[in-house]
Amino acid sequence: MPRPIQANLDLNALESNLQVARRATSARIMSVIKADGYGHGLMRAAEALAATDGYALLDIQDAVRLREAGYRQTILLLEGVFSAEELPVIAEYDLTCMIHSAWQIAMLDAYPGRGTPGNGKLDIWLKVNSGMNRLGFVPQQVAQVMDQLRRHRAVRDITLMTHFANADEARGIAEPLVLFNDLAAHYRVPRSLANSAALLRYPEAHGDWVRPGIMLYGASPFAEVSAQQLGLKPAMTLSSRIIATQELRAGDEVGYGALFRAEHAMRIGIVACGYADGYPRHAPSGRVEPEAPGTHRPTPGGWSGTPILVDGQRTKTLGRVSMDMLYVDLSALPQAVVGSRVVLWGEGMPIEEVARAAGTVSYELMCALTTRVPIVT
Ligand SMILES: Cc1ncc(COP(=O)(O)O)c(C=O)c1O
Repeated sequence: MPRPIQANLDLNALESNLQVARRATSARIMSVIKADGYGHGLMRAAEALAATDGYALLDIQDAVRLREAGYRQTILLLEGVFSAEELPVIAEYDLTCMIHSAWQIAMLDAYPGRGTPGNGKLDIWLKVNSGMNRLGFVPQQVAQVMDQLRRHRAVRDITLMTHFANADEARGIAEPLVLFNDLAAHYRVPRSLANSAALLRYPEAHGDWVRPGIMLYGASPFAEVSAQQLGLKPAMTLSSRIIATQELRAGDEVGYGALFRAEHAMRIGIVACGYADGYPRHAPSGRVEPEAPGTHRPTPGGWSGTPILVDGQRTKTLGRVSMDMLYVDLSALPQAVVGSRVVLWGEGMPIEEVARAAGTVSYELMCALTTRVPIVT
């Protein structure tokens, strides 16, 4: 029998989550499938989301793969070109190119356009830095860049876009939205602003293209609203099994660093899943009794441990996650035995809860899944 860990991918869930996005907007949908489809597999995600109007990703090779597989939708390179040789490939495969920095405009200026495959014409998305200060031109630069692009011999269509830093936070999007709309009012070009959070919360920011990512994979972008409440279905379930149990006496310790010590006799299960599978090593342990003040320190989630399902029932992790295994509390689960099914996240165990306990976000957990975990669809 193979090692029992696996990631089940429910591709119908992706399709259904795309419909949730569709019902929430009349804008066109650019499905974000970067980072190997947020860990779900690029081609798998693309196929499940085939009803989308566009795909957004980073690597030009991935974009070419999609075109060669027959996808005819808009394919946007979210960070644009990294080198000048990519421009003729973009034209040949009819890809859409983000421009976020002056060095990319310089490459564009040196690009001959005509004489290259596909007539050499390029569709451009111009990125505006509306306050996140990651990529994009600040508002004062936009008029000049737009002028340059509109006069460029090889530029066909231009879309103005921005990305919000706080669409999922209480602070919201008011400031960057006003700033972006004031700029965009000068041009009759399509606009794109909204990630999942803005799509779900701010219809006034839908523009012509929305760019959902995380919601398509069935996770909530909000800390205070669950995926279920939003009508989203988890696409990825990471599961494994208990491969051993241990009977602890009071005072017995568990795992590397003896991070957990039993206060009383109890039973624990050893699960075939560790950080080499992508489970976060910093996921906090359940309660430990310090030998002396300061001996053991709680991890950011405190002593409550990280939630996990055994035989469909919630319990918590204990001790430090190791490379291939982790520990679960079986005190309240007398029926759990070697072979019991464990759900690390997904069906019945919201990935957001696991992420919150581990001091991270669902995005990171999905993307961190490693290649040794078999994918079942
Ligand atoms: C430019 C851009 N647009 C859209 C998205 C999708 O965001 P989310 O997954 O929060 O919907 C991302 C993801 O980080 C992004 O970088």
